[in-house]
Amino acid sequence: MKENAKAANRREKAENKKKKERGNNFFSERQIPPRVGCIVLAVVAVVIFVTSYCRIASVWQGTDKNEFILLAVICGTCSIASMVLLETYLYFEKRYILTSPKRLAAVSTLIVLAVVLSAFTTIISFAFTAAFVAIILCGLLVSKRAAYTMTVTMAGVMMLMTVSGYGSGVLDKPVAAALAIFFGGIVSVIALNGQSNRLQPVISGAIGGAAAALVLSAVQAFSGVDFKTIAIDSGWMFAGCLLSGIIATGLLPLFERAFDISTEARLNELMNNNNPLLKRLMLEAPGTYHHSLIVAVMAESAAEQVGANALLCKTAAYYHDIGKLVSPRYFKENQGEYNVHDELPPEVSAAHILAHPKDSAQMLSKKNFPSDIIRMAANHHGDSIVYYFYTKAREQAAVPDSVNINDYRYESQKPQTKEDAILMLADCCEAAVRALKRPTQEMIEERVKNVINGLWLPVDGQLSESPITAKDIRTIEASFIKNLLAQYHERIEYPANPDQVLPQIQSTTHDAELPADDETNEPGPYTDPDNEPQQDDIAEKIAEQRAASDYAGSDEDFGDENGDQTGDQDND
Ligand SMILES: [Fe+2]
Ligand SMILES: [Fe+2]
Repeated sequence: MKENAKAANRREKAENKKKKERGNNFFSERQIPPRVGCIVLAVVAVVIFVTSYCRIASVWQGTDKNEFILLAVICGTCSIASMVLLETYLYFEKRYILTSPKRLAAVSTLIVLAVVLSAFTTIISFAFTAAFVAIILCGLLVSKRAAYTMTVTMAGVMMLMTVSGYGSGVLDKPVAAALAIFFGGIVSVIALNGQSNRLQPVISGAIGGAAAALVLSAVQAFSGVDFKTIAIDSGWMFAGCLLSGIIATGLLPLFERAFDISTEARLNELMNNNNPLLKRLMLEAPGTYHHSLIVAVMAESAAEQVGANALLCKTAAYYHDIGKLVSPRYFKENQGEYNVHDELPPEVSAAHILAHPKDSAQMLSKKNFPSDIIRMAANHHGDSIVYYFYTKAREQAAVPDSVNINDYRYESQKPQTKEDAILMLADCCEAAVRALKRPTQEMIEERVKNVINGLWLPVDGQLSESPITAKDIRTIEASFIKNLLAQYHERIEYPANPDQVLPQIQSTTHDAELPADDETNEPGPYTDPDNEPQQDDIAEKIAEQRAASDYAGSDEDFGDENGDQTGDQDND
């Protein structure tokens, strides 16, 4: 007996491990240790050193061998200093860039690209620089704060590039160029306003270029350079920055695809209703489409309040249930009177439900969606249990304990990021509140709290692997309640004839349905503000009676109250 229990336990553990591995292999994003990121940036420093040495050596005015050694020392020191600065910032502030292969590859490629391009453009004029390619693209692909650091790095590198000799006054041009790139770069990053405009890099390049030209003019005027030279150099500086913006515009979609980064422009494109997948969802699974829209609004506003990526949450919410297109009628929100699950064994029903996150991920990856969206769609139920069908299977089985709970478990990872967690919470809360027939404010608040506690507390622990905090959870909860009240809370209307009030209250005790007159939305005599206490009384009684009858009904739809933990178990 004891041995049988041990064997069953071992089997269960092995199954869990197998399922988890399958989930991890399919959905997780590969990470690298931060030290590997530092090594990659060290290699970039070597590239900067070689490029800058070759560039300066080609125009170096000295002939002494010692001068070339000094040149190598200067180039090496500046290259290492610029990359150490960047690495330090990334290590302490944006470590995820050093551990994310795609972002690290994007940053490294940007630096190398800007340095190599500038090595050629600065031959025409020291002010004709391509440094803004790296600055603008870093702002769009990684973050604005990373772009500010990139500005400092590029100012240092460009100073190195424009050194042409040895002696007094030789640093005038490099210092002027570095200052212009530094201040112009900051202005161009500020000009990146986060809108979806594809011309944004050009606009940012032009604004930053104007600022850089102004700074260059001021520095040169201060150094006593003649007006004609100032005008020509400023023109080259502006032209270089504008050209950088144009190059960045062309390169942005390539970088988005090559390094699989979800930029704001790309996410906004995906949210367009003309997207074929969204059109299909609208036509073939309208219930799921409506659910996705509400989840998107909830996830977006909650993400804004806890400092997560709101646009990513919103876009992922649009597509998280796209896999339901494989068999829309198996999901409650797309069913009418007829419920296909009434005629199916619970294991078959569960198989259809359990497949949809994986179907979503597969459909999205076939359409080359960003991996962030695919991961969020794949993990939006974590590894939770579809309790409704599990309970049904136990009820129908001759030996209830013979039903394996892992056959009713989603094969995905638990949410790994704040955005993943917000999507899961929004999805579960929306489905749970939608299951209420005539929700009152109290019912909505209670249900949202139950669902969130169920996912957050260690009982289910679906959020145990995400970096979300208790403070975030309370903020998200308040935001969801506000949104759901706006969506689902019904205002109680009052009958036109005061004599009907008492019979109506009595009738709601039995069927919890409003009288037909209530649905006319016509304001009757009881909407008089003077009679407010009386109205409130009546409204309270009706609300109480509705709440009582609805809760009984909702349990049928929803399995049981504890089922809140997995949210839309029979719907999703
Ligand atoms: Fe959903
Ligand atoms: Fe779902």
